[in-house]
Amino acid sequence: MMSSEKEFKKQVGKLYRQLLMAFGLIGVVVFLFLYIALNPSILVNKPTETTIVPVQEVAVEDKIENGIHVATGFVDGEGLTEVIQNCTNCHSAKLVTQNRMTREGWVATIRWMQETQNLWDLGNQEEAIVKYLAKNYAPQKKGRREILTDVEWYELSE
Ligand code: HEC
Repeated sequence: MMSSEKEFKKQVGKLYRQLLMAFGLIGVVVFLFLYIALNPSILVNKPTETTIVPVQEVAVEDKIENGIHVATGFVDGEGLTEVIQNCTNCHSAKLVTQNRMTREGWVATIRWMQETQNLWDLGNQEEAIVKYLAKNYAPQKKGRREILTDVEWYELSE
């Protein structure tokens, strides 16, 4: 009697473990099923990705658009290359383009940078640089409206 009870318990235990395993398996299958349902793309063979690099006709650094050198904002003109090479190393080109000076003013600014900011001797490039700056970043000629001349005054009648 005792042994058959033992046998019974053993059988129940075995069944119990089998059930657990079955549920475990079902769990895994359901999980996989849901995973695939939510990410169907994992079944599709992904084509090896090809990165298309557009071929640029002109390197970005050299691009001029509407007379403006795109990368720096400098006006296109003779001496532009020298200015880019010598005037954008320490500060942004904006510091240059937001200023307007006479030739003397530009030379003085260059001297000031040479004396106090370690700007190098511009050598034979200085002329091209100063010329470019004085031409393209000259003071605006008419900051104020000119004084009126040739006005026909009239008397105020009372
Ligand atoms: C070696 C570094 C260096 C180089 C190269 C350089 N600068 Fe400067 N520049 C400076 C420094 C530093 C300042 C001061 C920046 C500040 O005030 O924030 C300055 C300021 C300026 C200013 C503003 C001056 C003011 O009164 O506010 C102008 C304009 C300028 N630079 C133009 C030029 C031009 C044009 C060139 C090319 C010829 C040039 N820089 C090259 C270092 C340099």
